[in-house]
Amino acid sequence: MKVSVIGAGKVGAESAFLLAQEPKVSKIVLVDILKDLAMGEALDIEYSMGKNGGIRVYSGDYHATEGSDVIVVCAGLARKPGMAREDLLGKNEKILKTIIDSTLKLSPSAFYLIVTNPVDLLTFKAVELGISRTKVAGVGTYHDTLRLQSILKKHGFAGSKSIILGVHGEGAYIIREKIDDKLLKAVKEEVDTAGPTILKLKKATFYGIAVAVRDTFRALSGGKIVASVVLDGEYGLSGAALGVVCNFKNLTLDSVDEVELGEAKESFFSSAKKQSTFLS
Ligand SMILES: NC(=O)c1ccc[n+]([C@@H]2O[C@H](COP(=O)([O-])OP(=O)(O)OC[C@H]3O[C@@H](n4cnc5c(N)ncnc54)[C@H](O)[C@@H]3O)[C@@H](O)[C@H]2O)c1
Repeated sequence: MKVSVIGAGKVGAESAFLLAQEPKVSKIVLVDILKDLAMGEALDIEYSMGKNGGIRVYSGDYHATEGSDVIVVCAGLARKPGMAREDLLGKNEKILKTIIDSTLKLSPSAFYLIVTNPVDLLTFKAVELGISRTKVAGVGTYHDTLRLQSILKKHGFAGSKSIILGVHGEGAYIIREKIDDKLLKAVKEEVDTAGPTILKLKKATFYGIAVAVRDTFRALSGGKIVASVVLDGEYGLSGAALGVVCNFKNLTLDSVDEVELGEAKESFFSSAKKQSTFLS
């Protein structure tokens, strides 16, 4: 498969590096307005393959993305400490428009993975900008889910099946283990502050999101994963992009599992309501 990663910054480069290890990937193209950065990252990744490397990793302009099977959107501004993800909407929406206008005609059947924040809002915008709702997903609440499961494991809950749905960073928790209230409160606090804590310490977060991109990429060919998609009546909602349990087949959204929301109901629906205020 040919994968194009738009935005060769910290998240794009780390995602490209992990995707380069995937057996299904044969070509990776990195595109960035910083051409030297994209070229440097592409060479660094390609030269890491050694004698077993069978894949091409290169940089280029949008023409180089022609015929992509998957396009990963990591370009744009990142949050600075103290910023809300929604603060990035105006500028990153313009960048998303440029990317879609430049790539969709060259790769009309590509699946778009949106990573750039605010990820759920931009997933919605991607559909408004012309991509079919079955061909775009945001990677956000699965990243939150990875953080939750890592923290639960630290507290003795290995192999957790708990997940986070809704809007990235707004914590609609579906906890599937028996945990006492005090510990659960502490776990949620750690998940909710994970992004800001890492941003404060190292000014970026990229390992977790790159793993989330890699896992979502794997699911696209045929699998189930939490991803943000534009709802079409699921949970009685439409006109919102929220993290839900998705089934993918052949690089297409096949269906959404309407899992029982339980105590997550309130934050799930209030996130949807809040999102609509940014979309109106
Ligand atoms: N969804 C998530 O869970 C999650 C997690 C971490 C970061 N993010 C988001 O990912 C995005 C990237 O973060 P980062 O840390 O890699 O930032 P970064 O600043 O390191 O990289 C962004 C890159 O985008 C490039 N760029 C800007 N405009 C462009 C354009 N028009 N065309 C092509 N490239 C362009 C920049 O030159 C830069 O190299 C941010 O929006 C950040 O908030 C999302």
